Amino acid sequence: MEQYAIKGGNPLVGEVEIGGAKNAALAILAASIMTDETVLIENVPDVRDTNAMMQAMESIGAIIERIDRHTVKITGKAIKDLAIEDDFIKKIRASYYLLGALLGKYNKAQVTLPGGCNIGLRPIDQHIKGFRALGAEIRIEHGLIIAEAEQLKGGHIYMDVVSVGATIDVMLAAAMAEGQTIIENAAKEPHVVDVANFLNCMGASIKGAGTDVIRIKGVPKLHGTEYAIIPDQIEAGTFMFAAAVTKGDVTVKNVIPKHLESISAKLTEIGCEVEESDDAVRVVAAKPLTHTHVKTLPYPGFPTDMQPQITVALGLSKGTSIVTESIFENRFKYVDELTRMGASIKVEGNTAIIDGVSKYTGASISAPDLRAGAALVIAGLAAEGTTVIDDIKFIERGYEDFDLKLQSLGAQIEKVSSERELRKFRLKTG
Ligand code: UD1
Repeated sequence: MEQYAIKGGNPLVGEVEIGGAKNAALAILAASIMTDETVLIENVPDVRDTNAMMQAMESIGAIIERIDRHTVKITGKAIKDLAIEDDFIKKIRASYYLLGALLGKYNKAQVTLPGGCNIGLRPIDQHIKGFRALGAEIRIEHGLIIAEAEQLKGGHIYMDVVSVGATIDVMLAAAMAEGQTIIENAAKEPHVVDVANFLNCMGASIKGAGTDVIRIKGVPKLHGTEYAIIPDQIEAGTFMFAAAVTKGDVTVKNVIPKHLESISAKLTEIGCEVEESDDAVRVVAAKPLTHTHVKTLPYPGFPTDMQPQITVALGLSKGTSIVTESIFENRFKYVDELTRMGASIKVEGNTAIIDGVSKYTGASISAPDLRAGAALVIAGLAAEGTTVIDDIKFIERGYEDFDLKLQSLGAQIEKVSSERELRKFRLKTG
């Protein structure tokens, strides 16, 4: 089993290139099979989740050609099978995008119930409500969701909760439905906009993505296109917090600074300097960090996917901070691990009360999920001594070359797969 071995204490300094947005890529890959023509997608991050999605697509007959590490050509013409039962798909929650894409194109789809990060109850009732509003019949049998329609017809959907997944899924299903669909209380995340832009490049007619009302005029057919995925807001934010926590000076490049505003604002509040340019953001942490309060919210609020990273930073900030998680109820599981590193955090329901400590100390810990795993890596980078992190497969779901990118900023981190390699790391790093 692979682990990350980290010797903390080095400030991160330098520049790092941010890859394509994983969560946009998952939906765009699924959407690409909605045409029989070939689609070229650039800036696809090479991470476990996107690879799992492409394997699931291949399992139903999509032809996927890798042009280079981040560019793929996809042809959905040969799709024969509308049932995705692949065990692999259970691992990624975003398998539900194949439901929307197949239902939208073929009026029928059958997909294994989604898995993904275990961060709380993650229902898909809003997806189902949306599909039903478009005229589909939905059944759940033997762990599969089966969606069918004679012909999807545009509908009016008011989402009861702001859901990224449901907004995108309904957009996919509605792109070729007869007539107009209106989604109210839609999610406004950058990747919702990216998927709408992609579908529009394929000939769809989607207006309002990025606001809370999205209007979709169904078109009879979608066509091939070339498209580059937006940069990953959460990968960028993770490196920005890594700079803060290690008292470093990091420029994250190839980003859209507007997408990072809530993250930049919190970093400024806790005492970092944040400089924005056209497609880069520099974070300098020259002063001691100070406390703040933060509540996770749908975009443009502070992202739930950055909650563990900011908690790690606040754990080292002077004073008492409060972090409120308002999106997923079970997202503080990593706090036990952080406590083993010396953090002083009390969790009550969806709130963490954090008393800043002056340092973390290295420990053997496990990554409980993707973002918490990344946050624990950051904690290890700031800690005194060596930290060993298990279950890094979670981190690899969403971060490409995380260890190598951190190394390029001066971090002492290595992937090790045996006791012997770990001993070597300890000897080398002292
Ligand atoms: C997506 C992201 C995930 C991020 C989350 C919130 C992907 C693959 N994952 O997840 O990284 O943390 O957005 O920004 O893009 N809900 C319902 N019913 C539904 C759907 C959602 O009640 O049918 C609830 C959820 O339980 C949660 C909230 O709505 O409390 C937001 O979830 P949602 O935005 O759908 O998250 P995901 O799309 O699963």
